Amino acid sequence: MDTPNRRRRLLVVTSALGGVGLALGAVPFVASMRPSARARALGGPVEVDLGRPAPGALLKAEWRGKPIFVVRRTPEMLARLERSAPLLADPRSDVETQQPAYARNPYRSIDPEWLVLVGLCTHLGCVPAPHFEPGDVSGLGAQWPGGWFCHCHGSKFDLAGRVFRNVPAPTNLVVPPYRLDGAQRAVIGLDPAGARKT
Ligand code: FES
Repeated sequence: MDTPNRRRRLLVVTSALGGVGLALGAVPFVASMRPSARARALGGPVEVDLGRPAPGALLKAEWRGKPIFVVRRTPEMLARLERSAPLLADPRSDVETQQPAYARNPYRSIDPEWLVLVGLCTHLGCVPAPHFEPGDVSGLGAQWPGGWFCHCHGSKFDLAGRVFRNVPAPTNLVVPPYRLDGAQRAVIGLDPAGARKT
């Protein structure tokens, strides 16, 4: 029975990297389950069942009408973050409005394994496409470190949602407020207990 105080549960379907391919090597999605109409109206937190998806998998959810991306990053994906830094406009996440204080670190996350982003390009709000494979296989050039590509006007973001230099998007993708409840669940819209507010 739903109550106003009860968190709305958002189910997600996972998809492993390397499954059915999309154009240009895009990461196969992840489907999403939408929150109830009541949860959307309230704009309250939503829960994402992490469910131990395959390493490299992308989950999609929705919070306050916005797409949410959750990625279970592998150690190899995390290593690529360092290599991509010279290509980026704000590699240290100095623009404070783009993430909570607890995600202002090289991984832009609470736990490096789990990345949580608002899936809207910071140029004009298109939904960027995942292209997690590095290099030529991505269709984005040999130097591509993996990340997201916005097909509207060509903005690029790395595997922490950090924007590349010389693209239309002015800032990194937004990290929403969120908390992790163990390895089983992310709650989008709530800060971790005791977290410093930005
Ligand atoms: S909306 Fe993404 S590059 Fe313009």
